[in-house]
Amino acid sequence: MKQVLVVYDSKFGNTKQLANYIAEGIGESGIAEAIVIGISEIEDQSFDTFDGILFGAPVHAFRATRGIKGAVKKAAKKGLDGKLVGAFETYQALRHAGKFSRQIEGDLQKKAKSAKMFSPALNSLVDGYEGSLNEAEPAKGKEFGQKFSQEL
Ligand SMILES: Cc1cc2nc3c(=O)[nH]c(=O)nc-3n(C[C@H](O)[C@H](O)[C@H](O)COP(=O)(O)O)c2cc1C
Repeated sequence: MKQVLVVYDSKFGNTKQLANYIAEGIGESGIAEAIVIGISEIEDQSFDTFDGILFGAPVHAFRATRGIKGAVKKAAKKGLDGKLVGAFETYQALRHAGKFSRQIEGDLQKKAKSAKMFSPALNSLVDGYEGSLNEAEPAKGKEFGQKFSQEL
């Protein structure tokens, strides 16, 4: 069984929820299983056993959060060579859909040159500033997890 690490940043809990739906999809694939951690846990996390790593964050002021950017940097230092990596985001404003997961992907491409990029990223809508996750998103999260597993 392949192993996936799902790393999230989250202020109000929606991106954490999305990370858990993605992990559910990964588990349902029958190909891989997933562990979900917050960015504060990355320091103590060993990366050796993982075949794939996903990074997700809410959009804050037109940006992927500083927290997730720091997590990508730390993860790249620990070693992402040869691993499948990808990004997911939650956003509130429709016009911002998908703009900021590209920043996470850009960081991954810059800092982890020997990782394999999974695309497209998942961009999930929250209803209102603090959420909740739009009703369409749990299914999209699970599907994203399944597709990611198939590429491992
Ligand atoms: C400080 C701050 C800035 C935000 N800026 C944006 C923004 O530029 N565009 C947007 O679509 N949503 C913005 N939002 C809404 C967040 O995307 C939303 O709170 C988030 O997706 C919820 O995820 P979380 O529950 O994991 O924190 C902002 C939220 C906060 C707290």
